[in-house]
Amino acid sequence: MENNVKPANGKLGILIPGLGAVATTLIAGVEAVNKGLSQPIGALTQMGNIRLGKRTENRYPKIKDFVPLANLNDVVFGGWDVYADNVYDAAMKAKVLEPGLLNSVKAELEAIVPMTAAFDKSYAKNLDGTNVKEGTRYEMAQALMQDIETFQEEKNCDRIVVLWCGSTEVYFEESDIHQSIEIFEQALQDDDKRISPSMLYAYAALKLGIPYVNGAPNLTIDIPALVELAKQTETPIAGKDFKTGQTLMKTILAPGLAARALGVKGWFSTNILGNRDGLVLDDPDNFKTKEVSKLSVLEDIFQPEENPELYGDLYHKVRINYYPPHGDNKESWDNIDIFGWLGYQMQIKVNFLCRDSILAAPVALDLALFVDLAKRAGMSGIQEWLSFYLKSPQTAPGLRPEHDIFKQLMKLQNTLRHMMGEDLITHLGLDYYQDLVELL
Ligand SMILES: NC(=O)c1ccc[n+]([C@@H]2O[C@H](COP(=O)([O-])OP(=O)(O)OC[C@H]3O[C@@H](n4cnc5c(N)ncnc54)[C@H](O)[C@@H]3O)[C@@H](O)[C@H]2O)c1
Repeated sequence: MENNVKPANGKLGILIPGLGAVATTLIAGVEAVNKGLSQPIGALTQMGNIRLGKRTENRYPKIKDFVPLANLNDVVFGGWDVYADNVYDAAMKAKVLEPGLLNSVKAELEAIVPMTAAFDKSYAKNLDGTNVKEGTRYEMAQALMQDIETFQEEKNCDRIVVLWCGSTEVYFEESDIHQSIEIFEQALQDDDKRISPSMLYAYAALKLGIPYVNGAPNLTIDIPALVELAKQTETPIAGKDFKTGQTLMKTILAPGLAARALGVKGWFSTNILGNRDGLVLDDPDNFKTKEVSKLSVLEDIFQPEENPELYGDLYHKVRINYYPPHGDNKESWDNIDIFGWLGYQMQIKVNFLCRDSILAAPVALDLALFVDLAKRAGMSGIQEWLSFYLKSPQTAPGLRPEHDIFKQLMKLQNTLRHMMGEDLITHLGLDYYQDLVELL
């Protein structure tokens, strides 16, 4: 097979709506890595390897040496926020990274000043920033397109991706205006309030053929209108909700229990966190969006309808509590009631003292680099192979998402192999045992 992926020439602009904890940790991290001060730990695109060919060939290149990804030195950041703080000030306020590290990249961070945001307070009531655009939905969308084009020109970027790291918007369900791009564009003209701010960014990006990633759980590119627009403009999309902390652990542990046919009666998950994300999620309407995203994971992995004896009675509960003293250092507790041979009960306790944005930043980086790769590989629409990074992976209509992190990784790696014209790996491995092959 041949590969037809265009090379990653020139600069890649990563434009981020929401320059808060995750975004500033990502930007400062990339600047620190570029200065040789730190390592991009947790980013598969930078640190991960991929096996190629048979095990006997011993080919395990770094992913970044195998697929043509944008080099971190060629990445330029920009973004929007409802607060006017530059990235250095926002990062200092987020208190994720040490002042020492931030000071070593201070000039680079201070130079990134947020553009005015497309915002509607009814979608995030706990925010009260004033760095916002005036005008109707339609005017805001036009202004966002102008922002993107101006940024691309001024920074001399070859390509752009847009990566939503904004607050989680309130929970709402899609309605008639979200069903096709034609109706959606009419609703934009009518300044229909059912178009959320995040949809304005997605619309602006997709209209320009720019890949869009949704790092939060709110409804955005998962409405039929924007999926249609992505196909029309041949643009990749990926969403939604970065898979970090507790859900990451869940999708590592649950497949292991299911693999051994161990039963699960209950899974109680609680979190405390004190950053601005926690403040926004303190509003029940915003929490509902997150809760829906977090709850879907176990159902898919355990498939209780297929395995009623093991998972039919599973009680799954997720709580998030805003607790300012912990800042970005989220703490989660999971109590898992499992049962084994003859129904005998056991318990697993997981207490993860994590750092939310430290886990999210490499995920955000990988997603941005991979959607840019997808665009150059001619892949458009929903990029299900990026499920690996997401709590609520977007799939084709009617297709159940895959949440098992190991299957997601295999899908991601095989997609990269496929893109580059390498053999896919099934892990069958019978060909190492010629006698068995002949027998079968
Ligand atoms: N950190 C994680 O582990 C993690 C995991 C999954 C998802 N997320 C999601 O990622 C998002 C970012 O998380 P965070 O910790 O950086 O939150 P944060 O509150 O620190 O940053 C979000 C920023 O978005 C800005 N914002 C809100 N609405 C906006 C709009 N319409 N336009 C422009 N800016 C807007 C806010 O002012 C804020 O500065 C949240 O939605 C969060 O739920 C985070």
